[in-house]
Amino acid sequence: MQFFTAFVLCVSVLLLHIEVAAVAATGTQVIEIALTDTLGGEVGWAYYANISVGTPGQVQSALVDTGSSDTIFPDSTATACRTKGGCATTFVIEESPDYKVVIPGGLSVGYTDHSKMEGDYSLDRVHIGDISITNARIGVAKVVEDPTGIKTAILGLGYPSNEGQNTSDQPYCSTLLQALVESGEIESRLYGIYLSQRDHVQDGSITFGGIDTEKFKGPLTTLNCPRDNGITTKLELKLDNVKAYLQDGSSQELIRSASDESHSVDMDAGASAWRVSEPVYRKILMLAGGNDQRPCKEVVRGATYFQLTFSGYGSTNTATLNVDMADLFSPYAGTCQLAVTVDSSGETLGVGHHVMRAGYWVFDLDNGQISVAQANLEASSSNVVKVQKGAGGLSKAIGRKTEV
Ligand SMILES: *[C@@H]1O[C@H](CO)[C@@H](O)[C@H](O)[C@H]1NC(C)=O
Ligand SMILES: *[C@@H]1O[C@H](CO)[C@@H](O)[C@H](O)[C@H]1NC(C)=O
Repeated sequence: MQFFTAFVLCVSVLLLHIEVAAVAATGTQVIEIALTDTLGGEVGWAYYANISVGTPGQVQSALVDTGSSDTIFPDSTATACRTKGGCATTFVIEESPDYKVVIPGGLSVGYTDHSKMEGDYSLDRVHIGDISITNARIGVAKVVEDPTGIKTAILGLGYPSNEGQNTSDQPYCSTLLQALVESGEIESRLYGIYLSQRDHVQDGSITFGGIDTEKFKGPLTTLNCPRDNGITTKLELKLDNVKAYLQDGSSQELIRSASDESHSVDMDAGASAWRVSEPVYRKILMLAGGNDQRPCKEVVRGATYFQLTFSGYGSTNTATLNVDMADLFSPYAGTCQLAVTVDSSGETLGVGHHVMRAGYWVFDLDNGQISVAQANLEASSSNVVKVQKGAGGLSKAIGRKTEV
């Protein structure tokens, strides 16, 4: 999800750093956790991980979001969570003795899908896989609004500049990803994401501090995110070209940009739809049979597919990703719904998880890069490899050069 408003202060920075210094000497590791695309009877509309909060840990379903940066849990007292099925999971703060509010009323985050989280910024223990971070900075939402369905916690994996408290005169606080690095658990702010598909063999996974080499095939290509005065603050690439390949062997160009006017796209695993311009939407709809809903049994792989060509900033290499038309549909109200929408702003077009699940993605926030390979949909095992920090870490991890 893309975060768009923020009016919050940050005061917990110092507390976190004191904690961190004490444990930074231990060896780093790779933390792999499972993702599911199924929650409360809905399939394919978001990806969720289990993380837990508090002592003892209370397991929460958290929406995995590369488009925002705060980790937020719905409070058990939130009105929206008190109706049955309102919230998938909630945090009962009375049951966690170490819970400390640091900025009462400080949390106020709105997302572009019109959902909203308001409440407190606090500190408590957060568990991810086998590890736990004490005094992690979390948001606890007393007001939870999400017009699109079931409400969950959010695991924001973007840059700190995209946090709720990002105001010009305040320092950023540590995101959960940064806290994993600062506490010595992982080498750098890097993670690999494999999103599962409809009818998948294996569930998705997210690998913090490393990658899972079983989950992709073909070259893993590294592209640079934009830099502003040498600093990367956005998980964004350029989409140069989209070509559709039809079953009869013909092809059609849907987007073709001169290199100086490529469309920048948010790489947002927390968003569902692929946001495109009106003309491109019409062409995709036509290729989908003229209707944005289809019986799910007719949504089969191996007919029409799209080839997307991405490029980065400040280098000339490109990465291609083949996205099957079937990837763009998910079940909804008894049929399958096309997850492509019109972006009338026409500026930054978004690539949500319906496109991203065709690929394996490595988000490397320290180096300001995103790498992509075709996902290995037949993967039935894991091979988790640690990635060392620094510029060449990813190439070393896969034992060959990434295409830079
Ligand atoms: C999360 O935990 C629930 C309850 O223990 C379990 O049913 C579900 O499969 C877990 N999901 C993931 C993605 O691990
Ligand atoms: C957040 O920080 C970035 C600089 O890193 C700045 O460009 C942006 O405008 C800030 N956003 C808000 C909402 O303050």
